[in-house]
Amino acid sequence: MKQADDQQSTLIDPFGRRIEYVRLSVTDQCDLRCFYCMPDDYRDFEEPEHWLSFPEIERVIRAFTELGTRRVRLTGGEPLLRRNLPDLARRLASLPGLEDLSLSTNATRLAKQAGALHDSGITRINVSLDSLQSDRFKNITKGKLDKTLDGLMAARRAGFHPIKINMVVMKGINDDEVEDMVDFCIEHDFTLRFIETMPVGDTGRNASQHYIDLEEIRSRLARRFELLPGMMPGGGPARYVQVAGTQLRIGFITPISRHFCETCNRVRLAVDGTLYMCLGQEHSLSLRPLLRQGISDEDLRLTLREAIALKPERHEFRDKPEQVVRFMSKTGG
Ligand SMILES: C[S@@+](CC[C@H](N)C(=O)[O-])C[C@H]1O[C@@H](n2cnc3c(N)ncnc32)[C@H](O)[C@@H]1O
Ligand code: SF4
Repeated sequence: MKQADDQQSTLIDPFGRRIEYVRLSVTDQCDLRCFYCMPDDYRDFEEPEHWLSFPEIERVIRAFTELGTRRVRLTGGEPLLRRNLPDLARRLASLPGLEDLSLSTNATRLAKQAGALHDSGITRINVSLDSLQSDRFKNITKGKLDKTLDGLMAARRAGFHPIKINMVVMKGINDDEVEDMVDFCIEHDFTLRFIETMPVGDTGRNASQHYIDLEEIRSRLARRFELLPGMMPGGGPARYVQVAGTQLRIGFITPISRHFCETCNRVRLAVDGTLYMCLGQEHSLSLRPLLRQGISDEDLRLTLREAIALKPERHEFRDKPEQVVRFMSKTGG
């Protein structure tokens, strides 16, 4: 009986993976234009009437938690552009069963909102930071480095811990800065994660000309730092090392050189209510019409089960890099 109950309250995909993590994109808009993510002139955003409302989002996430989801990450686009984000965070943080509510942000607006977001129940944040050089940061993102750094420091003061820095490492763009980023993270007690470029959307495919296998970066760092095998609670797909004699952990996210699909535990909900089963595939199911036609709670849970049955075994970034047409800003990485 116990086993039957467990099966009722968990989501298992066709490959036996337990799905317990939702990445929730609360907007597809962004105040930056990282060249590997979104085109400069892109304006084709979702109409506001297509955005899931906070009560709609809460309903979907509640259904997920009833099916065993323990973790939710707020992402985007830039999630801090969504008005009243702390209100949504508060609603989600109080859902029974949700143990971990986190946020991915470019931090440009964090200086103003860090306190309210921390108070709302978000405990962990990831901040994108690809360069510590103002000109270079501007070339990559079209934004101002100072704003992101101010946001980071505000997050620290607000009490977020750990704070993870996400750096997409690109040959000829910023690969000469990884040592500087290590020093910066040691100095400020941040966790550092390096990410390989992914061919998501035309922007991601163009950026893939700067792809670098992170094993190269690890070997290079090992010449300057002693790297010990490391662990990180809630570390997800990153493989971690610890820099000896410091608190710094460095994660390597290697979707291209060593994919981690066999342990995938997540799905992605876009702001228009489309549920994507894989970052590297287009398998999806649209929840918005069902929500707006008054689907019952029981049928909503059933629909989520049906959606999970569509989850593909793995991405095909290497074999079929042309496959994903949407931009990363739609599903939040
Ligand atoms: C799409 S952003 C959304 C959240 C927020 N705006 C931010 O930048 O953290 C999430 C993550 O995806 C990463 N990303 C975007 N496009 C990518 C690509 N083509 N390859 C690898 N990572 C990418 C970003 O660097 C960021 O760390
Ligand atoms: S990576 Fe994040 S900050 Fe950069 S354009 Fe995409 S959504 Fe915006």
